[in-house]
Amino acid sequence: MEYTRLFALKLLQSEGRALERLYSNADTVRRKKMGDDVFIRGIVEFSNVCSNNCLYCGIRASNRNVRRYSMTTEEIMEAAIAMEENNFSTIVLQSGEIRDIKDDEIGEIIRKIKKKTSLAVTVSVGNRRKETYSFWRDCGMDRYFLRFETSDAELFNRLHPGCTLKERLTCLDDLHDLEIQTGSGFMIGLPGEKLETLADNILLCRKFDFDMIGIGPFIPHPETPLGNSPNAYSDNPELFFKALAVLRLFNPEAHIPATTAFDAVFPGEGRTLALQRGANIFMPNNTPVKYREDYLLYPGKPGVDEDPEQCLSSAVVRIKSLGRPLGKGPGHSIKKRHREKRSRE
Ligand code: 5AD
Repeated sequence: MEYTRLFALKLLQSEGRALERLYSNADTVRRKKMGDDVFIRGIVEFSNVCSNNCLYCGIRASNRNVRRYSMTTEEIMEAAIAMEENNFSTIVLQSGEIRDIKDDEIGEIIRKIKKKTSLAVTVSVGNRRKETYSFWRDCGMDRYFLRFETSDAELFNRLHPGCTLKERLTCLDDLHDLEIQTGSGFMIGLPGEKLETLADNILLCRKFDFDMIGIGPFIPHPETPLGNSPNAYSDNPELFFKALAVLRLFNPEAHIPATTAFDAVFPGEGRTLALQRGANIFMPNNTPVKYREDYLLYPGKPGVDEDPEQCLSSAVVRIKSLGRPLGKGPGHSIKKRHREKRSRE
């Protein structure tokens, strides 16, 4: 298999029989490399306070309609302990981004979760200094999740006032240097994106050799500057799944989640289809219901009124309906560098 832009583009344009083959190849590669297990990771959106103004995001700083919240350490611990009781193996702590503050608080939360539970901890709070990532790793952080959003530098810089693609990629390099398991990814169909951009996004994931790659369709949020900008592939939503399948073929050993945005575009089935076209991870929402509506990065986010237990049980029903077992254990990266590290520990 050639991992070139040209080949990615060709695959992204598959139709008819070729498209069926693309999906079945992605599913086969997923099964061969990652097995049939679907790992469940619970996300806790612990704060929507954000100082950034990303043009696409519903919780951007300038959106005055958002009621801002930050969960207390006790609330986060309560969520973590409930997750442990429900057999989750990973907690993903996500929030808006405010640089250089709360480093100690977040470190303390990581320490507490690691002390009181056996959960693996993933953190996703944006661009930080290398020292901060290193400090959190020393507190017990297992993984970090930071999407590069788009590989087109000009587009990235336009969408992220005060942040450049170069800075974002430096953060990802720092995480790699620190040997922290790193997840990244991008949005599919940002306004102004071309099919070449999509191919380059997939190639960039391969170049960085990410441990986890989360991608999902861009969905315009009415309270943002891109509210009236349709997804670049709005007339061709099949491309969302094509992107996922090509991503799997180009990144055979990465964990790939069936992200919530797929369900926002294909209600009730997007994530299930994603699991059949390359994905192997499911991330039910574990944010307390009272905060859900305040963490709307995009409209139509499913499950805003489902409590964590309902989110989990509907995930389990979906996974079982595919005849796939639930992953046991933490579901760490299977990449060689991490396997070797764990065997040294
Ligand atoms: N549509 C789809 N995904 C979005 N995200 C933020 N805003 C949107 C949107 N309008 C994604 C970004 C971010 C992740 C947490 O949510 O990719 O990294």
